[in-house]
Amino acid sequence: MTIDLHQASVAIIRAGQHRSGAYIASPNFSQYGYSWLRDGTWIAYGMARAGQIDSAEAFFRWGVKVLTAQQSRVEALLDKLAGGETPLESDYLPTRFTLDGEIGTEAWTDFQLDGYGTWLWGIATHCGSVDHPLWREAQPAIKLVIAYLQALWQSPNYDCWEEHRNQIHTATLAAIYGGLRAIQQLDATLIADGLPEQIQAFALANCVAAEGHFCKYVGNAEVDSSLLWVAVPYGLVEIDDPRFVATLMKIERDLRVPDGGVYRYCADNYYGGGEWNLLTAWLGWTYLLLARLDEARDILRWIETQATPTGELPEQTAGHLLLPSYYPDWVAKWGNPAVPLLWSHGMYLTLESLLKDAEKSL
Ligand code: BGC
Repeated sequence: MTIDLHQASVAIIRAGQHRSGAYIASPNFSQYGYSWLRDGTWIAYGMARAGQIDSAEAFFRWGVKVLTAQQSRVEALLDKLAGGETPLESDYLPTRFTLDGEIGTEAWTDFQLDGYGTWLWGIATHCGSVDHPLWREAQPAIKLVIAYLQALWQSPNYDCWEEHRNQIHTATLAAIYGGLRAIQQLDATLIADGLPEQIQAFALANCVAAEGHFCKYVGNAEVDSSLLWVAVPYGLVEIDDPRFVATLMKIERDLRVPDGGVYRYCADNYYGGGEWNLLTAWLGWTYLLLARLDEARDILRWIETQATPTGELPEQTAGHLLLPSYYPDWVAKWGNPAVPLLWSHGMYLTLESLLKDAEKSL
């Protein structure tokens, strides 16, 4: 019997949702017993698209509570910045919280801004209107995150793969831009005049390589598949912008296995650098918006073939590793790669439902 990956995904995500509302990144992987704003928002988005609204809202409400509790930390940080002091790493908000909503005690590469932009995008998109009850409840947390991002968006910070602390990352700027814009569309008074435009102008001036495509970070001309976010969904540029078209073509050329999955970036050695299901789903989403429906369908099928017999999707698959010699070192360090990864399931649900909608409107 073939497994129904839709049902399996919903069940796996529900099983990984703590009573607090937090989604665990992966229940079986030593380092992933926390809830990330980045992963969680995309899991919630996939669940909402699959009709599991209560689960998505429980996650957003968890975020509201957890972030509001960080008010004094953010105020202290903003005071330091205003006084010209350099903050300590521990002054920033973390990228992940314990399932109970605390800041973890284990060391982590915590200063990452993209998840905060993502969370803003997610909650604004979920609410869709200022009349949504969650919108009112979320105001203190939303205002706090906006103030945090407004003060820090130009600071170098770790990227969405938790690497390169001292760089300014294009995908991170796109997530911040997209989050602020989504909030602005619901209530323009919450966003300082011209702030999203300033971020966009900075990215267009500093994050486009001489060859015309967006680059991984300021001063690095490589591509990274997270650059898909620049247009999908964050809209820093339109999907038919020549700079995005050139980025997509380079991702297809440099980072896609023919008829297979998508790598994060060429030099990725994490577990040997496999194809990531969630990024492959992102490419499918991009194809959908470009009316390349057959390719989006092929991608959905490909992701389905990556599931284990019990319907669990891994973070990455090891069929065509970029740097296989690194694989055993990671296994020795942290055990086998993460499976199931709830973010992979969230992106599967997202692509599946978007595809259904697109097929209905044919
Ligand atoms: C990835 C992050 C992700 C985290 C939890 C890391 O390996 O680089 O993007 O948020 O795992 O899934």
